[in-house]
Amino acid sequence: ESQLPLVGKICLITAGPTYEAIDPVRFIGNHSSGKMGAALAMEMASKGAQVILIMGPSHVLTDHHLIHRINVKTAQEMYDHVHENINEADYAIFSAAVADYKPINPADQKIKKKSETLTIQLVKNPDILASVGAMKNRPYLVGFALETENELEHAFAKAEKKNTDLLVLNSTRDKGAGFGKDTNKITLIDRNQKTFVFDTKPKTEVAKDIVNEIIKRTL
Ligand code: C5P
Repeated sequence: ESQLPLVGKICLITAGPTYEAIDPVRFIGNHSSGKMGAALAMEMASKGAQVILIMGPSHVLTDHHLIHRINVKTAQEMYDHVHENINEADYAIFSAAVADYKPINPADQKIKKKSETLTIQLVKNPDILASVGAMKNRPYLVGFALETENELEHAFAKAEKKNTDLLVLNSTRDKGAGFGKDTNKITLIDRNQKTFVFDTKPKTEVAKDIVNEIIKRTL
């Protein structure tokens, strides 16, 4: 078998958090490190794929001649770059922790401390994964789900709603999994709601498991 089974294939990957401005110096964000998405980008590239990595604010390095990295801040920027590139992609892996909501009207100047309470109104961000899941000619689509309870039930619903070919489930209840960590524990869910449970391992190894499954199912 070829060591480079993905030569000639293009893979779009989103990774990291998004930052949604409240004012010029503040934002709504999350604790995603970008490590899982970076590991997936490196693994896809090491199998020969050309990778377009659309990365939210993250210091994780992803140096590889087959990785073209586009750094973004907001969900809207991530959405725009995804849709600029989605038509040429054979694979799309959406591992980013996208903010579901953003401040509706970011202030032009730093918000001053005044009253005892402050209300910031939020508006929904576009759901990038769902928007690609709804496309007619779409790439092989891999989504992520981070759940805190009723994990499988929520993940099944998510896979169906977003029309993923493969859904990678993480639970915050698993030790050695999640934001900022170097290890992860995943369950894969396919189109037939079949589940495949993996052990806790370094994110680089988790990326190999995911990419092997993708290759098995598409080549
Ligand atoms: O609905 P939820 O945020 O739990 O779904 C997680 C999955 O959807 C992840 O693959 C994430 O990258 C993707 N997502 C997205 N755009 C959003 C929200 C989530 O692509 N606005």
